[in-house]
Amino acid sequence: MISPVIVAIDGPSGVGKSTVARLIAKSLGLRYLDTGAMYRAAGLLARRAGLSLPLSNGEDVARLTSSATIEILNSQAGTRTLLNGEDVSEEIREPEIARYASAVASIPAVRRKLASLQREMALCGGGVMEGRDIGTKVVPETPFKFFLDASSDVRAERRFRELSAKGLDVKIETVLAEQRARDEADSTRTDSPLVCDASYVRVDTSNLSSVDVAEVCLAEIKKRIPG
Ligand code: DC
Repeated sequence: MISPVIVAIDGPSGVGKSTVARLIAKSLGLRYLDTGAMYRAAGLLARRAGLSLPLSNGEDVARLTSSATIEILNSQAGTRTLLNGEDVSEEIREPEIARYASAVASIPAVRRKLASLQREMALCGGGVMEGRDIGTKVVPETPFKFFLDASSDVRAERRFRELSAKGLDVKIETVLAEQRARDEADSTRTDSPLVCDASYVRVDTSNLSSVDVAEVCLAEIKKRIPG
């Protein structure tokens, strides 16, 4: 294989990117890199600083983020997110942090810092990177770009089942409303909005299992590998 192999998995929230990205990474022996976790860590930083939503001063958040260290560590035990050296992997999954993450992700200076860290990680060893702008901004030159998609109802239903299985008491209407708000924010921001351009292979995951989606992607990757 050419080196480093970087696979971009972009798409809206709740489409199943993480499971698919992990399956592809395992099959190709590559690292799995969750770039959303980095935006979540920046969101946590903003909340810990006492900033409230909607964020009114992007410069404050940009300053906070530029003086912080945000790292993704991969080990046998799985993938961990560190904020200034502290393991925040669980805390960043809280619904409130998802709202902060979406807010900080619309600040250009925050995106510049995180996208540049992500590009460094990608170029140093490759990996399967999951996010919103991997194929458009972070590593646009990679030939392996996938845009996973599904209707908002299908995605909300999946997320609802996932949260219910974890024992969380949530309403499907709430999950759908929050997801629509995030979709709107992610696809209408001026800097690096979520878009599927012609360089992507778009995969409609509505009627496919994660294993099926991973197989579709793996078959496309193999077609694109020279020789
Ligand atoms: O994938 P996720 O739900 O963990 O992402 C959290 C937020 O970060 C979400 O609002 C989209 C944003 N994000 C982004 O703008 N660019 C990325 N590469 C990854 C995530």
